[in-house]
Amino acid sequence: MKSGRLCWGLLSTARINERLIPVLRESGHSELLAVASRSREAAQAYASLRQIPRGYGSYDELLADPEIDIVYLSLPNHLHAEWSIKCADAGKHVLCEKPLALTVEEVDRMKAASERNHVLIQEAAMMRFHPQMRQLSEAVAQKIIGEVRLIRGIFTFTLRRPGDVRFDPDMGGGSLWDVGSYCVSFARAALQAEPVEVFASQSTGNDGVDLSFSGQMRFPSGALVHFFSSFDSFPHVEADLLGTEGRLYLNLPWVNQPGKTGRLQLTCLRSQGEKSTFGDGLRQETMDWKTYEDMNGYRDEVDSMAASVLNGAAPVVSLADSRNNVAAINALAQSAREGRPVTL
Ligand SMILES: NC(=O)c1ccc[n+]([C@@H]2O[C@H](COP(=O)([O-])OP(=O)(O)OC[C@H]3O[C@@H](n4cnc5c(N)ncnc54)[C@H](OP(=O)(O)O)[C@@H]3O)[C@@H](O)[C@H]2O)c1
Repeated sequence: MKSGRLCWGLLSTARINERLIPVLRESGHSELLAVASRSREAAQAYASLRQIPRGYGSYDELLADPEIDIVYLSLPNHLHAEWSIKCADAGKHVLCEKPLALTVEEVDRMKAASERNHVLIQEAAMMRFHPQMRQLSEAVAQKIIGEVRLIRGIFTFTLRRPGDVRFDPDMGGGSLWDVGSYCVSFARAALQAEPVEVFASQSTGNDGVDLSFSGQMRFPSGALVHFFSSFDSFPHVEADLLGTEGRLYLNLPWVNQPGKTGRLQLTCLRSQGEKSTFGDGLRQETMDWKTYEDMNGYRDEVDSMAASVLNGAAPVVSLADSRNNVAAINALAQSAREGRPVTL
């Protein structure tokens, strides 16, 4: 650690790194020290283009660097567990991309590695670090819309990159693991509860992964969740929660970035002071309950990691939380494969 600043290493030259790099550069608590790639040439070219001081030709070399405190792990999904454990065994903290792992057994092994090495491993589900998620969960707990009956979420885009890891079933491909994982995490966090039963169906492509996925979850309170994820659809994001007393709507539920305004809108009944035709004197009113301008969910996750590592703040997404997300996703995948409801 350099004068109280965390030294970060990027494990891989993945495209998603571009979101973290500016945030690491701007932060007062972190410094971007190194990048590693399977190819030395790629690592050095990547490092030189982005002015990263060290470019390593293997992931192991980065882990052997004693000045690296924390690793941003942006490998394909099937490598998250293996390399998080290697990072932890090398004494590095890990911010691991979502989904944290592909099985609960993998999460259990990551937890054991985190505990035996006294390092933090946390899932980079950046939506969860953004104030919007916390304020939404609080609003639900305070019953601002009464009892939640339904949560709906859509996260779709069009993936036209042959050979993308998302098309490979052996690499944790498919839209459920890729973007459906946000919808599952969102509903669980909003309700602060775990699903008891799921039911799902999917459309698969030639590679065998789901290109589109429709999932339903039932929670102990009776709240029902329906989400749709796809990388074979027009890009669209939104989520809403319908309660007995109102509705919350989010235009940017999953990714908040600079230049965009997230709106958390509340619709509820207000007295209009006079009797209406049907006598209740009430009308629906929609307002921006919270707005989030120019905010950056990636900054939130980096700040949060630093607060935990440097100051002992509790992690926002615990390993138990990520484990439950992985369990729900696997149950949904099983339901879609077998065409029947699955209980958890
Ligand atoms: N939080 C978010 O907003 C967000 C957004 C997009 C993606 N993600 C997550 O970030 C991770 C990376 O996604 P991405 O789209 O950025 O990935 P990507 O561009 O395809 O890069 C993945 C990197 O992993 C390395 N790698 C190691 N073994 C590999 C293999 N067998 N096949 C292919 N690449 C391999 C490669 O780096 P080297 O060649 O340098 O070794 C490659 O550049 C995924 O887990 C994804 O779910 C998160």
